[in-house]
Amino acid sequence: MISKEMESRLNDQIAKEAYASFLYLSMSAWCEYKGLNGCANFMKRQSAEEHMHMTKLIDYLFETNARAIISAIDQPPADFTDPKSLFEEVLGHEKHVTQSINELVEYAMVEKDHSTYNFLQWYIEEQREEENLMRSILDKIELIGDSPQSLYFIDKELEAINNTVAKAEGGEE
Ligand code: FEO
Repeated sequence: MISKEMESRLNDQIAKEAYASFLYLSMSAWCEYKGLNGCANFMKRQSAEEHMHMTKLIDYLFETNARAIISAIDQPPADFTDPKSLFEEVLGHEKHVTQSINELVEYAMVEKDHSTYNFLQWYIEEQREEENLMRSILDKIELIGDSPQSLYFIDKELEAINNTVAKAEGGEE
């Protein structure tokens, strides 16, 4: 059993994860449109990850006899400038989500809600991994360069990173 306030805050987080999933899907669609298939596949995987983050929260609310509310999702942007600024935006978004998770953890401590505190530790780990991954992609783009001629190599690199991530996750889509 969790408090009504915690239920409400976790529902807010469901909306944030849903928006992240849609934002990354929109980024994937833009990459596909630009012929950047490696980037598109990578962002499609990230979108699926965010969807999983959302359903994990829904399951937790169910397990704690609370109610999950699925709210409307804001329209994500459809146009992006280039892969470098796109991944800068992803990193910025992940930092925003990390802050949101940290605030949830702090609130769980205030309520002495050990169950939710424990549940949220998985998200803390996940955020550290995701921020680190996005930073490493931006480092690679920095090395390759972001001239129009570099796009092919950036896309190849993202395809390789996507394959590595898929392998680490046991090949699941
Ligand atoms: Fe679920 Fe990447 O935040």
